[in-house]
Amino acid sequence: MTSPPSDLILGIESSCDECAAAVVAGGRRVLASVVHSQVAEHAPYRGVVPEIASRSHLRTVARVTSEALQTAGVELDALAGLAVTHRPGLIGSLLVGVSFAKGLGLAHALPLVPVHHIDAHVYSAMMEVEPAFPCLALVVSGGHTALYCARSAIEIEPVASTRDDAAGECFDKVAALLGLPYPGGPSVSRLAEGGDATRYAFPRYQPRDGELGFSFSGLKTAVLYHLRGQNQRAPIPAPEQIPDRQDIAASFQEAAIDVLVEQALAAARRLGLNTVLVTGGVACNQRLRTRMTQAARSAGRSAVFPSPSLCTDNAAMVAGLGFHLLRAGRSASLAFDASPR
Ligand code: KG4
Ligand code: ZN
Repeated sequence: MTSPPSDLILGIESSCDECAAAVVAGGRRVLASVVHSQVAEHAPYRGVVPEIASRSHLRTVARVTSEALQTAGVELDALAGLAVTHRPGLIGSLLVGVSFAKGLGLAHALPLVPVHHIDAHVYSAMMEVEPAFPCLALVVSGGHTALYCARSAIEIEPVASTRDDAAGECFDKVAALLGLPYPGGPSVSRLAEGGDATRYAFPRYQPRDGELGFSFSGLKTAVLYHLRGQNQRAPIPAPEQIPDRQDIAASFQEAAIDVLVEQALAAARRLGLNTVLVTGGVACNQRLRTRMTQAARSAGRSAVFPSPSLCTDNAAMVAGLGFHLLRAGRSASLAFDASPR
């Protein structure tokens, strides 16, 4: 008797500052998901330092991979394939994951599946619930803020994106202005909890007539101008000299969320899509979850947020999407490359 073909995929993710490996069965059932975050290594610089990131991936990738296989109780030879993020991201970091995956694939004669990091983020919102296709996806992270139309797990078309900063990047920059620790998203949202979100009317970006899209650089600058006050040449005050920090954080957060909610629902309306998937690191934000859920409901649509561990960078989403790509014949020879874009 022959055994059924394996549906187990090992995923590897190293596009930015998380070094992750996961084993997923059938594209959905997460048997193991290991994430090594480099946050502590980059925190002194208030942002990701590419050289530090790639060296850290080099030290960690083999360990997270064996840990994932061990936790899942799976041998390499039992896998159906190996999925690895090959774009977009920091090239030095991507190269570590891609080279490691190629080595493993070659040694164990496993099919290799190159995975687009943003497509994997979109897919992360399909792992816990199966959406009705087509649906809208908002990926909102530190490097990306964009809308997509997903026709299936593997057919993901761009709809609109940010003209400048990503929303997460904006949270990180405002956190720095307010003297909050890196990464800024969680610390801004914690501070905002006690603040009055209606105190300051920070600007909400509105695209020109009929267009869709995001912009966050004006919002960040408005917070900077607010902090400088009357004298725009003055240095930014020290955190203890900003008595209205909580209100600034809450008002800023509300403005950023207004833009995300407004544009996502405008796109859903325009394209006639009933489900809005929201994912990426900023999708961990509780206020965004509440606001988007309420706004979607009022518009007769529904918003879907994956669990927080699937929103931030992880390898389960890479392995999960890899399963569908492999089934569609989208494996690659060793010649595929890593690419920053
Ligand atoms: O998806 P992710 O882990 O990495 C990228 O691909 O960028 O997202 C990280 C981003 C950071 O900018 C971080 O500040 C933001 O997600 N973030 C948040 C929250 N948690 C993480 N932003 C707002 N509120 C949060 N609770
Ligand atoms: Zn990401």
